[in-house]
Amino acid sequence: MAQKRILLGVTGGIAAYKSAELVRLLKKAGCSVRVVMTSGAEAFVTPLTFQALSGEAVRTSLLDPSAEAGMGHIELAKWADIIVVAPASANFMARLAQGMADDLLSTLCCATEAPIVVVPAMNQAMWKNHRTQRNLSLLEADPQIRVLGPDQGDQACGDVGPGRMLEPQAIADRVLLDTPRSLAGVRVVITAGPTREAIDPVRYISNHSSGKMGYALAAAAHAAGADVTLVSGPVMLPRPAGVAVLPIVTAEDMLASSMRVVDAGCDIFIATAAVADYRPLTCADQKLKKSQEELSLALVRNPDTLAAIAGRTDAPFTVGFAAETSDVIRYATDKLTRKHLNMIIANGVSQAGVGFNGDENAVTALWPGGQQVFGQETKVNLSGRLIALIAEHYRAIAHSNNQSDSSEVKS
Ligand code: PMT
Repeated sequence: MAQKRILLGVTGGIAAYKSAELVRLLKKAGCSVRVVMTSGAEAFVTPLTFQALSGEAVRTSLLDPSAEAGMGHIELAKWADIIVVAPASANFMARLAQGMADDLLSTLCCATEAPIVVVPAMNQAMWKNHRTQRNLSLLEADPQIRVLGPDQGDQACGDVGPGRMLEPQAIADRVLLDTPRSLAGVRVVITAGPTREAIDPVRYISNHSSGKMGYALAAAAHAAGADVTLVSGPVMLPRPAGVAVLPIVTAEDMLASSMRVVDAGCDIFIATAAVADYRPLTCADQKLKKSQEELSLALVRNPDTLAAIAGRTDAPFTVGFAAETSDVIRYATDKLTRKHLNMIIANGVSQAGVGFNGDENAVTALWPGGQQVFGQETKVNLSGRLIALIAEHYRAIAHSNNQSDSSEVKS
């Protein structure tokens, strides 16, 4: 990535201040960065901030004779190895989706042949609006464009929901990892979230999985160029841009949907879901009444999706997760061997702030003959690193399989 030429477009939104940090991180990684600001962005941050951080004059206008005399806009479009628009407002997404070229940044996006990464940031209602979603679909269908995020959580306006710009470190990680796109053309299926096993029409057995780990991995795999499908239990997360989601409820649904999607073609299968190991033997037709002091439920074992996928004769590269409260590495290693996996991510969940539900995690990746520790960080950042590791191992196995195929053909 050293010397990579990144053109950063900044549009109007409060998240524009975070893009200053993004410039710093990209410069630190050895990239050459030039910034183009829209007039809306200038209302939030001054060009001088970006000039000081990038070490380059900031461009703000298409019709600026002195700037055009230096590097004209077509030259600038050709200079960029990648255009990153962060934050990308709803207005910019709409204009990009329509191919408009009515200011410098939109013109550069029309003139470039480089990949364009769009990092949305807006109020949650604007993000959910059907017109924004329609523009998002157009952008996602465009092979030159990749959409990263948005994140969800507290917003500057006081709302809570999807629309926050990804953190600068997460954007930088994705942009840096993306080149080369380590999973270009690879089909990835990821299970995420909890399952629910009905006791009666209003009650169920479940667990605390929020789906955040699986959704972050799906976004990271998509950013690395993969064709990603999420088989997802019930969660409160927005669909990651560019990722297909198959909603399921029970462990049996999860097995059926995963098998169907793997039948259709899958190179890497990653199981982050916290699947209920047991379900009630029967589900009562009517709500159970609390007429007795004690209630016993007969439970039966659920099918194991991960083991079933790894046991197929056409098994993909298979990665499991193991959430453990004690002897984490020992139990995870046992699952790696017993389920015939290529890799397992050991996830200690007794430490506060990691594992179920939170935004951060700390894990150890284990594979036959090796391991790598990942310290505590956001699930978004961690996912970029895990996907890079998985891609490396997947490629190594695919390469050695190709070699043995070709030696068989020769002999
Ligand atoms: O969703 P979050 O709130 O972000 O939390 C993330 C997480 C803690 C759920 C995740 O990081 C994690 O550790 N997931 C594994 C949960 C678990 O307890 O797995 P397990 O040890 O029961 O199962 C081992 C593996 O087999 C897992 O990959 C699991 O998806 C899979 N499995 C298990 C049982 C079953 N019936 N089917 C399966 O596919």
